[in-house]
Amino acid sequence: MKKWELPVAMTIAGVDSGGGAGIAADLKTFAALGVHGTLAVTALTAQNTYSVIGIHEVPSEFVELQIRAVWEDMNIDAAKTGMLSSSPIIRAVAKSVKSYGFPLVVDPVMIAKSGAKLLADEAIETLKKELLPLAMVVTPNRFEAEVLSGVKIGNLVDAEVAAKAIARDLGVKAVIVKGGHIGSESRVVDVVYINGVIKHVETERVEGCTHGTGCSFSAAIAAYLAKGYPVLDSIIEAKNFILTAISRSYIVGKGSCPVNPIAYLELDAELYRAQKTLAETLERMTSEPLSRKLAELVPEVQSNIVYSVPKYLARGISDVVGVPGRVVKYLDRVRVFGYPQPGVSSHVARLVLEAMKYDSTIRSAMNIKYGEDLLKVARELGMSLAVIDRREEPEEVKSVEGASLPWIVRRAVEQLGRVPDLLADTGDIGKEPMIRVFGRTPDEVLDKVVKLITKRGSL
Ligand SMILES: Nc1ncnc2c1ncn2[C@@H]1O[C@H](COP(=O)(O)OP(=O)(O)OP(=O)(O)O)[C@@H](O)[C@H]1O
Ligand SMILES: [Mg+2]
Repeated sequence: MKKWELPVAMTIAGVDSGGGAGIAADLKTFAALGVHGTLAVTALTAQNTYSVIGIHEVPSEFVELQIRAVWEDMNIDAAKTGMLSSSPIIRAVAKSVKSYGFPLVVDPVMIAKSGAKLLADEAIETLKKELLPLAMVVTPNRFEAEVLSGVKIGNLVDAEVAAKAIARDLGVKAVIVKGGHIGSESRVVDVVYINGVIKHVETERVEGCTHGTGCSFSAAIAAYLAKGYPVLDSIIEAKNFILTAISRSYIVGKGSCPVNPIAYLELDAELYRAQKTLAETLERMTSEPLSRKLAELVPEVQSNIVYSVPKYLARGISDVVGVPGRVVKYLDRVRVFGYPQPGVSSHVARLVLEAMKYDSTIRSAMNIKYGEDLLKVARELGMSLAVIDRREEPEEVKSVEGASLPWIVRRAVEQLGRVPDLLADTGDIGKEPMIRVFGRTPDEVLDKVVKLITKRGSL
């Protein structure tokens, strides 16, 4: 491969105007996995998250032409098909695969999640006879596997029988009967039949959006094949990829929300940005003369300042960056040891995760020592302030591990109708009283703390 060259993958599929499935999902997947994405459009669909209200098929000769244009210029290292719509289009694709010989993943899409038909009934036979024998991998879901194999699938043993039948009768090298619609509430098993052997690719069943999972999964397999991975490795990597795409999805539309293939890049990128941004604030905090002033505000349990990835990506404390070993008071100054890391704060991170439920812009917080004088200057500065008496915490909240912090934040939001700048709690037996300062960024949090110190100093 030449300097700066990337493998080329192609999607031969339909366009979903809602941006969730089809070519949109495939190109996001290709981009996230570091291959150059190319496309041959088979049909335009007027579609959103809950319905397909129109389909406009592309003439089959033009599908062929798109593949040829790409092939002649840049080669195709691997391709996948999605919605093929009709027999003529299937034949056009089969002809291209025969002429150019690229490895092909067939996602035998038949019906959209919303119920719309994406493949004519008469075209199923064409798919079986003319395209599948040329495929390296086929990825039917439960219903498609039933249609292709004639086996009714109720459990994993049925899925194995169907996978073997498809490989044997249709001549596909590797068959994956996907487990999205099989298995239990907590586990998903994709049944893979490859080189005469059955393998189970099993993961937890994650919560999230699933419109376009099949598209993105088959695109991910094609991307790994284009990069030169063996078939089984490509399937396993694609499965891991799709887990992130489902679990870090975001809600859009009123129907079945889409997977987020870009999450694979976004999460690491946002964690890195959060680390970098927090590191800059720590630099400010630990320089003179601020460091000495801040030292006066460090409580017995020490301080931490945290920064979360954006709300739609944040699922737990491992998505919040904090200071390892906390911000400590040492010889009248604040000190930090080490670079900001994800998952090192539990307490302050959980407060931010809770605050984000009410206001997605609040991504940072710091805990400081409780002081009546600080509350007084906060009021004088016109900051929003909630003071929570922990003795009012109901027994049923106290008795549940981890329920106290959400309760404090909820009380504050109930009092003020918003996440406050400062949330003070007056402590309880064995609980040091504390003030938490919230803001959109670590710098904004620190600015608020500096305002408090400056105002207190001038009183
Ligand atoms: N909730 C889930 N948790 C983990 N993995 C899942 C989940 N739902 C689907 N998958 C995985 O996503 C991939 C796609 O499977 P699925 O059975 O949903 O395909 P599909 O029905 O063709 O999807 P689509 O409706 O988008 O066409 C498979 O690898 C499957 O194991
Ligand atoms: Mg599908």
